[in-house]
Amino acid sequence: MIHPLTPIYTPRLVLRCWKASDAPLLKAALDSSLDHLRPWMPWANQEPSTIPTLEARLAGFAEDFRQGRDFIYGIFNRDETEVLGGTGLHLRNGPQDIEIGYWLRASATGQGLVSESTSALTTVAFATWPLETVTIVCDPENRRSAAVPARLGYACQGTFPVKSGQPDRDLDLIWRTSRAAWAARSPLNATRTVVAR
Ligand SMILES: CC(C)(COP(=O)(O)OP(=O)(O)OC[C@H]1O[C@@H](n2cnc3c(N)ncnc32)[C@H](O)[C@@H]1OP(=O)(O)O)[C@@H](O)C(=O)NCCC(=O)NCCS
Repeated sequence: MIHPLTPIYTPRLVLRCWKASDAPLLKAALDSSLDHLRPWMPWANQEPSTIPTLEARLAGFAEDFRQGRDFIYGIFNRDETEVLGGTGLHLRNGPQDIEIGYWLRASATGQGLVSESTSALTTVAFATWPLETVTIVCDPENRRSAAVPARLGYACQGTFPVKSGQPDRDLDLIWRTSRAAWAARSPLNATRTVVAR
């Protein structure tokens, strides 16, 4: 069992709970990526935010994390001098399933970084909770996002009407992997996803 507050180290990344003091690094990532994020992340239309606004938001994420309500992680480079993006484990589908979301700053795309973070987070999710499945939901038009679960071997479930909270689109493209399917991946692949510090 891995405590979700434990930072996750992958070959190129640290995934950890945000701190309010990360606000300047987050602002640099967001403000340099607005055109890239806005078509797919509705919250990006509210940016840019001030540092105090981001500090308050990150303190809220950290409190949610501590209380076990929602697990929103920053994606950092290994020396934690740069925010590369954000990801999360969201408990919105009942006790048997968890949903992973993600974004990268524009300059961090095209290097396999979100595939690396999502692989690690999937492994950690199954190690942390007695889940049956891990799910990724994206806009059917967001080909780069859909390529991430496809690359990791998630199974495409098809396209469904959006449940709620996504006023920007009508349809969700849903990807899912089961505990058994994830465990059946090559052990070499599995050990590459989460590494010692
Ligand atoms: C969705 C998003 C995170 C995907 O980013 P990405 O860089 O395409 O994804 P990855 O980090 O996994 O990188 C994959 C790319 O790196 C390349 N790559 C290079 N080295 C790699 C490696 N070691 N492993 C895997 N891929 C690698 C792949 O070929 C691929 O490039 P391609 O698309 O040109 O074929 C990014 O486009 C984004 O932030 N979009 C805006 C926010 C968003 O849409 N979020 C999702 C909402 S559902």
